[in-house]
Amino acid sequence: MSTVKEQLIENLVAEDAVSQRKITIIGSGSVGMACAICILLKDLADELALVDVAEDKLKGETMDLQHGSLFFSTSKIVSGKDYKVSENSKLVIVTAGARQKEGESRLDLVQRNVTIMKSIIPSIVRYSPDCKMLIVSNPVDILTYVIWKISGLPASRVIGSGCNLDSARFRYLIGEKLGVHPTSCHGWIIGEHGDSSVPLWSGVNVAGVPLKSLQPDLGTDSDKEQWKTIHKQVVESAYEVLKLKGYTSWAIGLSVTDLAGSILKNLRRVHPVSTMVKISKMVTIKRELLKNFTSEEAIYPVRSPLKELDWLVWPVLSTS
Ligand SMILES: NC(=O)c1ccc[n+]([C@@H]2O[C@H](COP(=O)([O-])OP(=O)(O)OC[C@H]3O[C@@H](n4cnc5c(N)ncnc54)[C@H](O)[C@@H]3O)[C@@H](O)[C@H]2O)c1
Repeated sequence: MSTVKEQLIENLVAEDAVSQRKITIIGSGSVGMACAICILLKDLADELALVDVAEDKLKGETMDLQHGSLFFSTSKIVSGKDYKVSENSKLVIVTAGARQKEGESRLDLVQRNVTIMKSIIPSIVRYSPDCKMLIVSNPVDILTYVIWKISGLPASRVIGSGCNLDSARFRYLIGEKLGVHPTSCHGWIIGEHGDSSVPLWSGVNVAGVPLKSLQPDLGTDSDKEQWKTIHKQVVESAYEVLKLKGYTSWAIGLSVTDLAGSILKNLRRVHPVSTMVKISKMVTIKRELLKNFTSEEAIYPVRSPLKELDWLVWPVLSTS
């Protein structure tokens, strides 16, 4: 006796055995799950895989997403502790690891998270040797370098989320001060994600009008309007939210999804990310951008505060 399914459905064409747009997220914590929901809602993946060592949490989060399947266009959501579930990923987003506790800086996480990366990166590469990796775990710039080294992948395939979130916060705060939507407020924060990041005040503009042309002291100590406090707010915001327990990491989820879209769809957008790529194309972009900036801001490449790592951040990358 054939089953209902057998009576009802006959496959006329063989289905693709391999997903074409598979995304894996390593780490199902606050950041990982914010990335997951944003990726699902943006319809970026045909398969989403989640990997974490905390099996119960992982199972619960996965079931909850699967129960929402009616409202997504991603037909397959899988998870597991074993990296086999990540097989054939196009993009692997790394959010696993320790996060800051109150009073800790991002750099305080380096040893703990380097140890974790040594345990997870070889398995990712084993199952998805052709993937691109997007690193989010902190300290993100240093880990991007470390993961590039451990993975053996070409530099163009290991990208850190860098100052993409810092720049989004910057644009939001500029918009708040002016009463303008952030999409119409343009500005870049580059360099190391976090405490030593650099705001490019001479590039800040609304509808092509440089704010520095209206207020030449913009961003300096002598600026009567003290615009530089906006950058201070950007840096401090990560520490502020740490005090507000129980929050979900929506902004980083949105920012990572924005980057994931650029990478997967090859949108040729320019983002302030961490990368080890030193190619002439990027230098061209950099020069193009630098033309507009004052020399005091032109501090590329930025050196790591950890001198033992010969680490450079090239902060702007075309994702082509
Ligand atoms: N780059 C950015 O802009 C940015 C912004 C926010 C947070 N972060 C960073 O993202 C990371 C994650 O933050 P969070 O708030 O999600 O932390 P979290 O504690 O909520 O989640 C971390 C997850 O990683 C998992 N994990 C730990 N070791 C693992 C391993 N060996 N293999 C697989 N999974 C493992 C944990 O079980 C946990 O579920 C932190 O390092 C944080 O600092 C980066």
